[in-house]
Amino acid sequence: MNSKVITTKSPEDFAKMEVAGRCVAAVHAAVREAARPGVSLVELDAIAAEVIRDWGCRPSFLGYHGYPATICTSPNDVIVHGIPTDYRLREGDILSVDAGAVYEGWHGDAAFTMAIGEVPDEVRRLIEVTEQALWNGLRQAKVGARLGDVGHAIESTAEPHGYGVVREYVGHGIGRQMHEAPNVPNYGRPGKGLKLKEGWALAIEPMFNMGGAETAVLDDGWTVVTADGSLSAHFEHTLLLTPEGPKVSTLPEPLPL
Ligand code: MF3
Ligand code: CO
Repeated sequence: MNSKVITTKSPEDFAKMEVAGRCVAAVHAAVREAARPGVSLVELDAIAAEVIRDWGCRPSFLGYHGYPATICTSPNDVIVHGIPTDYRLREGDILSVDAGAVYEGWHGDAAFTMAIGEVPDEVRRLIEVTEQALWNGLRQAKVGARLGDVGHAIESTAEPHGYGVVREYVGHGIGRQMHEAPNVPNYGRPGKGLKLKEGWALAIEPMFNMGGAETAVLDDGWTVVTADGSLSAHFEHTLLLTPEGPKVSTLPEPLPL
């Protein structure tokens, strides 16, 4: 799916990716605010579509290899790529939300997992640790570091908790396309893999399961679930390796690291 060439972005390109990233952050805020017991996943999708339109962006998922919605909504044992349905959220669910936007041809892509109402401590911990793993990975992703450093930081965050680290789905380069080279695995060995270069943009996205790492795809051809039915969490940000240093684009204000 990824072309093998890793493209180098200019500061002007990064400026457009920052607009797309801010738009994705606005989608996250709106969906997080709306997601509560009784709200359906298609209602969340409609909210996301409106925010993206208001920003003068285009939803990158819609139509991607035939994907039928604006965002991915992945409840409970759904890892990623859940298609919004008329399922209504219930107290005690967890929900992963993945959103992508394009501004003047340049992409932003990010995901988060949230609890709907009260959830047990061990479920809250799964969500917190997965988010922490994303930040541990982002902090490793500096010019001159290697992809193995990023993957190792993520994987080793899961280890003490015994979470399954999903291997079949990985992070990716991003730019004029949502998915570009290189692949960014959520596992690796320090000092191994490609050396990160100025001008790259990477989407880093750990997926941790409360049980095993194995995955399965439902008959709709999209929905990826845990093979053992355990809960799963997913966090993602888009990171720009700018001449001034690494910057997370998919936040309300781009964040230099
Ligand atoms: N955002 C997902 C990723 O991080 C891709 C969504 S797949 C789509 O790679 F089909 F919904 F677009
Ligand atoms: Co992604």
